[in-house]
Amino acid sequence: MNTLNPNPPTRMLSKRKPLYRFPLIPVFALVICLSFLVLYRYYAKPDSQFNGLSKTSTMSHAPQCSGQALALGEKFVWYAPHSGFSNQLSEFKNAVLMAGILNRTLVVPPILDHHAVALGSCPKFRVVDPKDVRISVWDHVIELVQSRRYISIAEIIDVSSLVSPSLVRVIDLRDFVSIWCGISLDLACVKDTKLQSSVSESLKQCGSLLAGLHGSIEKCIYAVNEDCRTTIWTFHTDGHEDGKLDSFQADEQLKQKKKISYVRRRKDVFKTLGPGSEVESASLLAFGSLFSAAYKGSELYVDIHESHQDQRFRSLMDKIKHLPFVPEIMIAGKQFVKETIKAPFLCAQLRLLDGQFKNHQKATFHGLRQKIESLRKEGPLPVHIFIMTDLPGDNWTGTYLSDLISDKHNYKVHFLKENDKLVRRAAIKLMAAGHGQRFISNSDSTISKRYCSSQRLPDLLLYVEQTVCSCASLGFIGTPGSTIAENIELMRKFGSSSQQC
Ligand SMILES: *[C@@H]1O[C@H](CO)[C@@H](O)[C@H](O)[C@H]1NC(C)=O
Ligand SMILES: *[C@@H]1O[C@H](CO)[C@@H](O)[C@H](O)[C@H]1NC(C)=O
Repeated sequence: MNTLNPNPPTRMLSKRKPLYRFPLIPVFALVICLSFLVLYRYYAKPDSQFNGLSKTSTMSHAPQCSGQALALGEKFVWYAPHSGFSNQLSEFKNAVLMAGILNRTLVVPPILDHHAVALGSCPKFRVVDPKDVRISVWDHVIELVQSRRYISIAEIIDVSSLVSPSLVRVIDLRDFVSIWCGISLDLACVKDTKLQSSVSESLKQCGSLLAGLHGSIEKCIYAVNEDCRTTIWTFHTDGHEDGKLDSFQADEQLKQKKKISYVRRRKDVFKTLGPGSEVESASLLAFGSLFSAAYKGSELYVDIHESHQDQRFRSLMDKIKHLPFVPEIMIAGKQFVKETIKAPFLCAQLRLLDGQFKNHQKATFHGLRQKIESLRKEGPLPVHIFIMTDLPGDNWTGTYLSDLISDKHNYKVHFLKENDKLVRRAAIKLMAAGHGQRFISNSDSTISKRYCSSQRLPDLLLYVEQTVCSCASLGFIGTPGSTIAENIELMRKFGSSSQQC
């Protein structure tokens, strides 16, 4: 984003030129003085002091991989998720694919708060640079730890069918950090003011290393700087698409208006980042966002599909099509259907408040009204309707929802709240189950007890609601364009046949 206009610096220089008649002489003198100064310091300082100095300066400017990290036989890959849960889930799926293709252990991130990390818009060629997305994810991770709300995406999504030595290997981000950076993330909870500054300095160093703030470092980290403005990742047996232009490019109007110089090329992920590439020796491969979506006949960033010879890859592809929630969530959703709704029902998912959806409230209600009217005419009555929406219950007055509730003869409306016993009980069970794919749970739990006590229960409402909707036998009405609606459709397609609701 910072190099959209390469011309101004030159113009500024040429304007200034007449002011300095002999600009080279003072610059030359300055360079010589500085060189002497540096040489003097280098030779005059006693060794130990110089080492200390260089150590602190390299640490704050260009961190190095610890010997410990370099000694690990295992190679890792991480990425920076963004936006809401459904986006994070689709990025996680792409990350699983990348890890499988590149044979690297996937570092599994936590679930980020809805608006904590933004990416921007690929079609508009206006996105945050990969290293900046990575560092905001890191900062948010620290916040999640400090507020005792850290929960891994693998604690919500059931990855047990994916994870095996031959398919894909995973490690929790917390475990990865403690092995790779040699510091426990739980130290972020330290209250002691004396310890705090050194802890936060160490965490900051780890974060800038992981984010590749200072670029790639040989053998240590390879930081991917390509994003959807320049690159579409592909994967073919012979890499035949590598280097080809993508069919979607910025149009002339946008190029001129925004002075965009990006050209989108298709790159084979195995050829570019896999064995035999310059990346192979790097202990950690860091992607930015792995968000992708179909757009104008192309994919925005990841265009990897099944038509591949490799059996292991095909089986991975098949498994990530639909990743269910962990059993505790599925059980809670089904229990609500069986014990509370107790009848065939319609599910309505109404996204009314957030972003683009605010302006489409009327259209959203219109589709729902039509479906409900037809169900009422068909009978039997009352028609059972489960509603999940971001509009708080107190604000239903005056909307179609309150009409439905008051018409008790024709409709029976059901909904769940965050504080419902069913949802809270599921959260307690889920925490006890420990699905997080932790490797070092023993040593780690003593540390977290010491520093990050009283972990908060995760809010499972959204996931339990989706499970309920996946069981709605009278149909599902979702908000057009909502990724939550897409996920429910997926659950209905892949889940309903195998799991009796
Ligand atoms: C994948 O990586 C693991 C661990 O680094 C290694 O043991 C295995 O041989 C690799 N598999 C392939 C197909 O390269
Ligand atoms: C919901 O209702 C509360 C108080 O009744 C009001 O302050 C708030 O602005 C409303 N929110 C929306 C999104 O309508």
